[in-house]
Amino acid sequence: MIVSTKALFKHAYGKYAVGAYNINNAEQTMGLFRGNVDSKAPFIIQLSKGARSYTDKRILEAMIRAADEIFPEAIFAVHLDHGDEAACMDCIASGFYSSVMIDASHEPFEQNIAITKRVVTAAHAKNIAVEAELGQLGGVEEDISVNEENAKLTDPKQVEEFVKKSGCDSLACAIGTSHGAYKFTGSQGLHFEVILAIQKLLPGYPLVMHGSSSVPQDEVQRINAAGGQLKGAKGVDEAQITKAAPMGVTKVNIDTDGRLVWCRVHRESFRDDPANFDLRKPGTVFINEYAKYIAHKNKVLGSAGQIDSLRKSLA
Ligand code: G3H
Ligand code: 13P
Ligand code: ZN
Repeated sequence: MIVSTKALFKHAYGKYAVGAYNINNAEQTMGLFRGNVDSKAPFIIQLSKGARSYTDKRILEAMIRAADEIFPEAIFAVHLDHGDEAACMDCIASGFYSSVMIDASHEPFEQNIAITKRVVTAAHAKNIAVEAELGQLGGVEEDISVNEENAKLTDPKQVEEFVKKSGCDSLACAIGTSHGAYKFTGSQGLHFEVILAIQKLLPGYPLVMHGSSSVPQDEVQRINAAGGQLKGAKGVDEAQITKAAPMGVTKVNIDTDGRLVWCRVHRESFRDDPANFDLRKPGTVFINEYAKYIAHKNKVLGSAGQIDSLRKSLA
């Protein structure tokens, strides 16, 4: 059942974080639904601009509709990840999305507010929620690359004005993470002092953590043992994610970890079964392994086991 992102946040805030997982194809869709249903967790499906143009946005949207029928017990929201203004307006017009993210964080403060406000006005007219971003994560997202020097943690002094003037419903904050598989070179981690300062100013307001993949080291080792070259890949400590949820981090974005599962399964398949050319063999393994990963991650987020209580709160 597709529900509003706001309803998910209302149930989760301060208790657990909702996993927001990116998908691009049928195998990810099946694994994602299975993992969430197995762990009885509500979730958010994220479609990026890149995902929407990889095959065709209509394929992805149709797969989600089909999965909704195949897994009637699933409760989830559909979200545009890292949209620009045009992508947001397209998703708002389609009527299919529960929420959109307008990412104008690379713009100056006033410009970020103005763009976000235009998207909020259009979205709220159709009961669609808007996530905006303040501060800049390091790493690469779509066609924008931000190096370590240019990455800027969210300044808590700016958040109240930003949220008030733009009207956004949730805020992606730069709190020390970055996108991709190379987040940290040493023992760096989340800036809890920034999260707590923002929560103090905006109690009850849902914060979003991008770049939340943990980059499991056993995955990295298995990928490298099967011919991969992911030297120094490192992600967010899972214990830190669990700690962040009660501080108002209500949506946790994960894409890279799913790609690592895909990479490990396929590299090992090609190495161990060189005579095979049936895509369904590694595809089936991937679906099962991705479902296991999702179920595990939902335990870390605290969303596992929440579906019955959520269903009651929606009734
Ligand atoms: O933050 C970006 C997400 O990982 C989506 O990646 O734009 O390559 O689909 P993508
Ligand atoms: P990761 O690259 O850490 O998976 O982050 C994904 C993300 O933030 C999607 O918006
Ligand atoms: Zn992101």
